[in-house]
Amino acid sequence: MNLHEGEKRPLPSHVAIIMDGNGRWAKKRGLPRIMGHHAGVGAVERTVRAARDAGIKTLSLYAFSSENWKRPEREVFGLMGLFRLIIRSKVDQLLREGARIRFAGKIDGLPSDVQEIIRNAEERTAGQTGLQLVICLNYGGRQEILDAVDKVVESGETTPLDEKTFRKYLYLPDVPDPDLIIRTSGEMRLSNFWLWEGAYSEFYFTEKLWPDFGPEDLETALNVYQGRERRYGSV
Ligand code: FPP
Repeated sequence: MNLHEGEKRPLPSHVAIIMDGNGRWAKKRGLPRIMGHHAGVGAVERTVRAARDAGIKTLSLYAFSSENWKRPEREVFGLMGLFRLIIRSKVDQLLREGARIRFAGKIDGLPSDVQEIIRNAEERTAGQTGLQLVICLNYGGRQEILDAVDKVVESGETTPLDEKTFRKYLYLPDVPDPDLIIRTSGEMRLSNFWLWEGAYSEFYFTEKLWPDFGPEDLETALNVYQGRERRYGSV
């Protein structure tokens, strides 16, 4: 990967991606939408490899939102089938590469066999220290905050809470906030992704549809990020 030379800001430690445009990719080719998701898996594989090679520590991918259940039953069924297949079949490869896989979302709302596959993948890769891959499945940022509030109430924490304490009750409290959020397909929305965690994230938008996304697009996004100045509200 050829990142621009000279004065550069550090690489993002956590890159998050809203993988959008699978349906349009399929439609352009006269294919059913699920074929777009299948093609999207290829982009996931390329991007995971490119992120690892670039030295990114955490890559998170928005694979299924809590709102995606509203899609046609056939598409939801197809996506669940794809998740079963991909997660199960990729664990050995992640193990070989030293990568750790984790999931964020309302996991107990997923089919029970998918929950089992997820637990197994997390347990088998738990001790690995290479790339940390976070898959957001049945994830919604508002739901995550509501779930955290429930846990706070149960915990008996004394109020008022500070941000650091609240953070402990999010889905993956030890995962650092995303430095960079990428969204494909020309849409410019957060769509309920990393609402709490994305408070100070930089954004990069590209017209590319997700199945067409590749290492060169990640490289461009990283270069743009490195040219940005992050001020976190200061001057
Ligand atoms: C958004 O495109 C994409 C999704 C809702 C699914 C993304 C899932 C994958 C690529 C499979 C990855 C699998 C794992 C385990 C990471 P869209 O359907 O909203 O596209 P459109 O906006 O063109 O209709």
